[in-house]
Amino acid sequence: MKKGFIFDLDGVITDTAKFHYIAWKNLAATLGITIDETFNETLKGISRMDSLDKILAYGHKENAFTTTEKETLAQKKNDEYVKLLADLSEADLLPGVHDFLVQAKEQTIPCSIASASKNAPMILDKLGVLEFFGHIVDPETLTKGKPDPEIFIKAAKSIGVEPKDAIGFEDAQAGIEGIKAAGMYAVGLSATETLIGADLQVASMTELDVEQLINQ
Ligand code: BG6
Ligand code: MG
Repeated sequence: MKKGFIFDLDGVITDTAKFHYIAWKNLAATLGITIDETFNETLKGISRMDSLDKILAYGHKENAFTTTEKETLAQKKNDEYVKLLADLSEADLLPGVHDFLVQAKEQTIPCSIASASKNAPMILDKLGVLEFFGHIVDPETLTKGKPDPEIFIKAAKSIGVEPKDAIGFEDAQAGIEGIKAAGMYAVGLSATETLIGADLQVASMTELDVEQLINQ
């Protein structure tokens, strides 16, 4: 029987990818770099600074800025991203998420968040689901990002669950790889991409039943 749930945030709990995309696209445009939705897929699950590095490399400007200048650029992107989140509310939870969290609470299955986003606590608060999570891993404490398993191992331990007894939920390939490397059962959430290595893939949380999942 599985004993804990570890959730990615962006693309699993809520669809913030579209806001990240707008903010990165606008910042990239000011640098003379054009990014499209296909390129944006490669930024999913990747930290803010690593995303900026990828965009600069894509535009052949990897050596054009100092570390301080890059920090300013990343801050500028985040300022616009946070503005785009101003109206975020419970209505922005992805289908089935609230019901799934309620079921987990009823079954006393602890939940934690393994997201690369430094905005995760604020976003969960706006979505009205902060109370369902025993812990949110602080990405500042990580030495490596996804696909490294570090964030998932920390998230499991933070709620007193061994990784082998946990189930991880992810929408990005790097995340599925991290969950599997942590020794967890991986649930992939995507209606469009095939998530290689996922133990189970569904289009949305509406297809999942907590009792069935933990007892398989
Ligand atoms: C991940 C997103 O969850 O968080 C990435 O998938 C994003 O696109 C990363 O870059 C970092 O987010 P933030 O909010 O700290 O800039
Ligand atoms: Mg994600």
